[in-house]
Amino acid sequence: MSLTFDQILSWLQEDDGPRLDSLWQEADRVRREQVGEEVHLRGLLEISNYCDRACQYCGIRQPNVHLDRYRMTPEEIRAGADEAVARGYGTVVLQAGEDPALDLSVLCDVIRRIKNETPLAVTLSLGERTVAELAACRRAGADRYLLRFETSNRELLEHLHPPRAGDPPTHRLDLLRVLDELEYEVGSGVMVGLPGQTLADLARDVLLFQQLDLDMIGIGPYIPHPHTPLFQKLRTADPPCAGQATADELTTYKMMALARLACPQANIPSTTALATVNPQAGPLLGLARGANVLMPNLTPAPYRRRYEIYPHKAGSERTSAESANAALEQVLALGRQVGCGRGDSVKRRMRCRATVPGPTE
Ligand code: 5AD
Repeated sequence: MSLTFDQILSWLQEDDGPRLDSLWQEADRVRREQVGEEVHLRGLLEISNYCDRACQYCGIRQPNVHLDRYRMTPEEIRAGADEAVARGYGTVVLQAGEDPALDLSVLCDVIRRIKNETPLAVTLSLGERTVAELAACRRAGADRYLLRFETSNRELLEHLHPPRAGDPPTHRLDLLRVLDELEYEVGSGVMVGLPGQTLADLARDVLLFQQLDLDMIGIGPYIPHPHTPLFQKLRTADPPCAGQATADELTTYKMMALARLACPQANIPSTTALATVNPQAGPLLGLARGANVLMPNLTPAPYRRRYEIYPHKAGSERTSAESANAALEQVLALGRQVGCGRGDSVKRRMRCRATVPGPTE
């Protein structure tokens, strides 16, 4: 089913409880029919909090001098992958800021080791990289790449996400196309409630999910970080723009449910940002309103509190075992099952099957 701008916008403006219940039920039905009852668990390793960008919203931005920086060693990353296997996960996600010192050959080597020595799918979430780097990681065996376009409002993005000095404005949509051509499973997504972002912008985000036909979609509320310019501006600035989207749970659930309707077969996580605004019910409601993935944090204890893209991040005070147990309990509380295997994109599998020639008569 293809959604129109007007339909999406009217759901985003809806505040009638029973009508919203029908949206949650429809998203849950489509999720069950298209990707089933399994909740896939992806082990998350935040491998470096260095970043040479200056995004106005993000706590690991390069100018934030209050952050204690770290970079995991290849051995630590390899051990994290073993922990993902030991916990029965099918995927490890390697996430980092845009860390120029995260050496490409070292990274490719650790990807190759994980791929040769474990059955894991490897997902990368390393920000904007060159085409050559993305191709090298793919050749080393990386299977999937997450790169949120953050907001479809170009002007807002260029303001909040400035290019490095001397670089042209970023074209994340071009990079998403490159990732698709390199045959990565492609994930993207947005933040909800960025200052200056309207409900109409969010409606266009959902249309863009649909148009990009994404394999994975991550959506979370914007959470102000005190050591960022955007936080400072929020405290001193003019009243919100007309139609400003709220960075709240309800708008996030609406976006997740609409993402499920727009891209029925996508893998959609219930995100850490959502769990941060509602630690108890957030993950459960996310899974009941369109999501089918959780990403328990397996980042080693000395580092995890330091990957502070926003404050009070859910799970930052937990051990890996506690994060893993919490995810398991959430899946069981809903009467769903933990996914077996890698939890590859259903959509891409079907596309591959359609292009494989059948047996000749
Ligand atoms: N609040 C919520 N999400 C954030 N991200 C970065 N900063 C924040 C914030 N302050 C999200 C971005 C990025 C992802 C890794 O984290 O969407 O792509």
